[in-house]
Amino acid sequence: MASPRVMSGIRVTGPLHIGNYWGAFRNWLSLQKDYECYFGVMDWHGMTTAYRKSEEIAPWTREMYAEILAWGLDPEKNTVFVQSQVHEHIELFMIFANLTPMGWLERVTTWKDAEEEAKQNDTHNLGRFAYPVLQSADIAIYRGEKVPVGQDQVAHLEISREIIRRFNNVYKAKLPEPQALLTNVPSLPGLDGRKMSKSYGNTLLLTEPDEKTLRKKVNMMLTDPQRARRENPGNPEICPVYSYHKLYSSAEDVEWAATGCRTAGIGCGDCKGRLAQNIENLTKEPREQKKALLADSKKLQGLMDVGNEKARKEARKTLEIVRSCMKW
Ligand code: TRP
Ligand code: SF4
Repeated sequence: MASPRVMSGIRVTGPLHIGNYWGAFRNWLSLQKDYECYFGVMDWHGMTTAYRKSEEIAPWTREMYAEILAWGLDPEKNTVFVQSQVHEHIELFMIFANLTPMGWLERVTTWKDAEEEAKQNDTHNLGRFAYPVLQSADIAIYRGEKVPVGQDQVAHLEISREIIRRFNNVYKAKLPEPQALLTNVPSLPGLDGRKMSKSYGNTLLLTEPDEKTLRKKVNMMLTDPQRARRENPGNPEICPVYSYHKLYSSAEDVEWAATGCRTAGIGCGDCKGRLAQNIENLTKEPREQKKALLADSKKLQGLMDVGNEKARKEARKTLEIVRSCMKW
């Protein structure tokens, strides 16, 4: 296997939406071809905000695990695990917690920006505050070197590097300092044109439950408000439907939408219908595979067990190294 080692994770918050896919997950699918990869379904990170709905974490975790395999993540080639099932993450987290000055965490932008909201929804808690420390442990426990993430994770990667660097300095250790692997994430507005976010209820799921729901959601999408009537020309550049076309449609269809919009040659209904069809074509198979896997809970559990055990083996190795550096 070619080095360097790749490590990444997705936080468990419910079903994946297309923003998750284009932001990071799509990258995993291409990286698995060339690298040794560790991919985690991060349920502890979900718990930091969903602790009052703890009973939902396990079903969400299974769904996410099934989903990422259904989209083509190979569980044999990669190590695909569930974070809470590999206890070594938490051990290393606790070691790192001792090495992390409070001030570093206070300065993390994702914390500062969310602090007010966190107070309001009862998630102004130590677990959430320490989120980047756990993330650092996630990476270091597999001695990850490259971390494919979306732009929103840059601040976390920065502090992960600092924590790991500090560990190396204090204990004369040589854990790799991880680097973010960023790709160009296309701009992907929510169905209503605002930022796509679960809390706005404007997401399109990576796999909607069926074609009908997918079509309904696409039909709900905001369009250029200047096109109130079929005969009004529009501007595709300000239309979320068009941004999705650019991701899901062929060059011909993108051209068809842009020209048809500007010349009022097509209606928004036509434009959305074509988009929904193109998304459906890409989604149909993974959706069915995901359903099949979720329906066969024995098989799914078996896959998770194997992945978790593979992960544990490597994580234990790292903890041995860590403890020996600490003379503990
Ligand atoms: N914080 C990441 C996110 O919200 C998820 C995550 C948890 C992660 N642990 C990680 C990503 C380790 C990369 C490496 O997307
Ligand atoms: Fe948007 Fe398409 Fe309507 Fe133009 S024709 S406003 S791109 S939905």
